[in-house]
Amino acid sequence: MADYIPDDKLEEIKDRVSIVEVISDYVSLKKAGKNYKGLCPFHSEKTPSFMVNEEKQIFHCFGCNTGGNVFNFLMKMDRLSFPEAARGLARRYGIDLPKIKISEADKRETLKREWLFELNELAASYYHNLLINEKEGKEAREYLRQRGIGNDVIIDHRLGYAQNSWDGLLKFLSKKGASLSRVSEVGLIIPKKAQGFYDRFRGRMIFPIINIHGKVIGFGGRVLDNSLPKYLNSPESSIYNKSNSLYGLKVAKDFIRSEDKVIVVEGYFDLLSLNQYGIKNVAATLGTSLTTGHIRILRRYTNNIITVFDADEAGKKAAARSLDVLLKHGTSPKIAVLPSGFDPDSFVRKVGEKGFKEIIAGSIPLIEFAINEVIKKHDISSVEGKVKIIEDVTPILSMIENKIERDIYIQRVSNRLGIKEDTIVSQFRKTKKTGGILQEKGIQSMDEDIVEKLLLKLMLLSNEVVHKIQEEAIIEEFVNKQYKEIGLLLLEEFNRQGRIDSGRVINCLEDESSKSLISQLSIEKESIEDVQKILKDCINKIRMHKVDEEIKILDIKIKEAEDKKDEVLQREFLVSRQELKNKQINYRQAFSRHNNA
Ligand code: GTP
Ligand code: MN
Repeated sequence: MADYIPDDKLEEIKDRVSIVEVISDYVSLKKAGKNYKGLCPFHSEKTPSFMVNEEKQIFHCFGCNTGGNVFNFLMKMDRLSFPEAARGLARRYGIDLPKIKISEADKRETLKREWLFELNELAASYYHNLLINEKEGKEAREYLRQRGIGNDVIIDHRLGYAQNSWDGLLKFLSKKGASLSRVSEVGLIIPKKAQGFYDRFRGRMIFPIINIHGKVIGFGGRVLDNSLPKYLNSPESSIYNKSNSLYGLKVAKDFIRSEDKVIVVEGYFDLLSLNQYGIKNVAATLGTSLTTGHIRILRRYTNNIITVFDADEAGKKAAARSLDVLLKHGTSPKIAVLPSGFDPDSFVRKVGEKGFKEIIAGSIPLIEFAINEVIKKHDISSVEGKVKIIEDVTPILSMIENKIERDIYIQRVSNRLGIKEDTIVSQFRKTKKTGGILQEKGIQSMDEDIVEKLLLKLMLLSNEVVHKIQEEAIIEEFVNKQYKEIGLLLLEEFNRQGRIDSGRVINCLEDESSKSLISQLSIEKESIEDVQKILKDCINKIRMHKVDEEIKILDIKIKEAEDKKDEVLQREFLVSRQELKNKQINYRQAFSRHNNA
């Protein structure tokens, strides 16, 4: 690792930091029993399932299963590396850390990115100057005027113009001493077949794509007439990734926050026109439908995402494509549908701010929209049509996390189809997942996997359990490798510290699923009444499973000995088998004994 922070310093940070205090900067937390509770910042939800435990210094969300310690929280929330998160906390709590040692390679990479931003910055000011000051920009100024875009918007978004020449930008950047291979890396110039480069953007309106920190990461360019292609965009590069970027967010973010709502459109001009009409909480996707990355970014500012589509087919398709992405995140996105033939730009210019806001106010939940689409697709009056509708609607319904909300939609669908709710519910049940550990069934009939998980949970619950587990050396017999690794780590931690500190253990784990497992197991509320009995049963179950496996192996060996006609060996195996069988019976009885007790 490039940046190393000594263990004792990490310990110091962890001791000094209050996880509740840190997370409270992002989430409003309320005390609930031993834990603090709030709305999860990693997925959208209406009822809190995000828990923070001050004593154990961990958090866990039971909605999206994200969890970990304070470092993991900051890493996820602010997209930091581990050392960055640790250094940030150290700074906040006044802990001195040794100076960063960055490797040469990392230094070069950081420097290179800075360079690429710098080149884009130069290009953006070059294009912007052409548009607002130079005679070459006259036609573009006229074009913007025609489309109703005024000076404030031009300046807010740093709009520009690329003159119709093969080397306008090329010459400008060369004079500034820029490395042309770098310039071609961000796609502003393109290598010629033989030698040299030429400008990518020629005779086009320029839309710099600016990230939330104000850095120019790429460009879009539009022709001023009807020639093709209408739009050109920067290629993706180490600083530009279109499925994680939104156009206009830098300008919009404060408005999105204050209005607690974001309007998502598809086109550059849609966004600019809305801005022109004073509607500023707008972001535009860059020629893609809404992705997980987009939602993650938007959710930092609001949970209310409204996508605007026109009523034609393309819009519906786009809506269907983003449906599962949007719902998977538990967001309750809405969709506003414009009259056929309009896009947000043409519509706001026709009806003005007030009219557009009415359309936004009339937006409907994406779920409702999707259900309507399914119903429209089939013939609702025929039996086959109804069957198809139920088939297609069920997966949509099962994406709704909130039970009440789901019931309402089931009721509506049943009303519209004239079919009993029960029919839909039973269809729905078939696709439903199962719930928590202990509610399910008795330990004897549980899968080994679940039993092993339960043992890990017990270890986090009490020291006494850990003693017993160590004594019985049961972790060594775990079948699931991940659980075994975690179990051994817990024992190690216990032996070193005399207790188990979930937060510390999480630090030692590499993979996300193990981290999440620990935070989940240590924070989830499940009343375990008779710990000792459950512990015994679990150990018993694992031993029993091991014996079952041994018997299976012996059976194979016995068969082999029989084939080889080796009677001595066969008899030996048979004796061992009998011993195992006896053991098996003992284990079974051990179960029934305390189950009947
Ligand atoms: P105007 O005609 O200027 O109003 O453009 P628009 O924003 O209404 O464009 P449209 O609805 O046709 O497209 C929406 C978005 O898709 C644009 O803003 C671009 O990001 C993208 N897009 C459209 N046409 C092209 C194209 O030819 N090439 C590329 N790469 N992207 C395009
Ligand atoms: Mn348009």
